[in-house]
Amino acid sequence: MLAGRRVVLGVSGGVAAYKSAYLARRLVEAGAVVRVVMTASALHFVGPQTFSAITGTPPVTDLFSGPAVSPHTELGQWADVVVIAPATAATLSRIATGLSEDALVATVLASKAPLVLAPAMHTEMWEHPATRRTMALLEADGHHVVGPGSGPLAMGDVGTGRMSEPDEILAAVDAVLGGSPMGGVRVLVTAGGTREPIDPVRYLGNRSSGKMGFAIAEEAVARGAVVTLVTTADFTGDRGVEVVAVETAQDMAEAVWARAAESDVAVMAAAVADFRPADPAGTKLRRKDGPPGLELEPTPDVLAGVAASDDRPFLIGFAAETGPSDGAIEKARSKGVDLLVANDVTEDGSGFGTDTNRVTIILPDGTVEPWPMLTKREVAARLWDRVAEMRTGGSS
Ligand SMILES: Cc1cc2nc3c(=O)[nH]c(=O)nc-3n(C[C@H](O)[C@H](O)[C@H](O)COP(=O)(O)O)c2cc1C
Repeated sequence: MLAGRRVVLGVSGGVAAYKSAYLARRLVEAGAVVRVVMTASALHFVGPQTFSAITGTPPVTDLFSGPAVSPHTELGQWADVVVIAPATAATLSRIATGLSEDALVATVLASKAPLVLAPAMHTEMWEHPATRRTMALLEADGHHVVGPGSGPLAMGDVGTGRMSEPDEILAAVDAVLGGSPMGGVRVLVTAGGTREPIDPVRYLGNRSSGKMGFAIAEEAVARGAVVTLVTTADFTGDRGVEVVAVETAQDMAEAVWARAAESDVAVMAAAVADFRPADPAGTKLRRKDGPPGLELEPTPDVLAGVAASDDRPFLIGFAAETGPSDGAIEKARSKGVDLLVANDVTEDGSGFGTDTNRVTIILPDGTVEPWPMLTKREVAARLWDRVAEMRTGGSS
């Protein structure tokens, strides 16, 4: 969808500006015609010559000193889409309030094209009430915000405020231009391991970290989907995700079942307990009273409940196996899923808590596709490619 499209890439003054050169290159590789507008501060972080060499045209850096008579209106009217990466707190604030005193914000205001913003800043700046107000205004104006994610920031700090990776921003631009098969698709994802109370302090749990479900949710957002994440684990990633925090299998079942009918695709990546203590103690169990006899009862089957619902979404189940995936093949057949992702959690680099995973895709007709060891984000990307093929009737 990017081929032949006219993209204005705005670069403002943050350290992440160095990644914008790569974004410019990826846009050009995708066939877009790219024009760059830089703020005066951005020039401290990356040279205009870099963008000239990548796009073939010198960036606009000033309203009055370049060759164009009216650079902001020319570019604003020319653009099919405007993307600003990194978008600093200052630039975001000027856009929100219409303060068009520089070439970039003037271009934004002189354009009717959709605007994609990739904020980047330190956590304190991102969380400041002034930035919160700015973002509320920008979202109310209908602009598209991608990220920020969390991770390493400048000056060795770590936290929320890290600019989304260039390929995520590229996917968001593509989706805004209507190019992604996932644009506007409503996705429901579960993540993490459920906790079943024994008493108010202790629980029966499992080792799931939620990382696989998080990667699936973030990749879906990057592709333009509208994502709800029902999770037991803390999610600090892409703020484009609607997060529903739950604890037990019962909570998760209720949250998922209430949202299943309004979802197009459901990915059940959480590790849900099969059994829970039948009668959890109301007060903390004491050592002096001796070990409690724990009677267990089955929990609600979240996956089966979605499969059995009227108007059910395209359904993806996950199976954590501790050996060959024969049990998973049986699960794919019996659970009524459209696709099952099985992984052997005992294998090195695969399963709980790792950043990589080796999975096997199993279809209800018994087709088995072993995938190589990949990062969880790569598994997520392949999975969404596979789902897009299946939902549009492509090869399966
Ligand atoms: C080393 C350094 C790094 C900075 N990084 C950021 C940043 O990542 N995000 C941000 O909002 N501001 C950052 N700033 C502050 C902006 O550069 C400053 O607010 C500037 O006025 C932004 O102008 P602009 O939005 O017109 O580009 C940084 C400043 C310095 C000195």
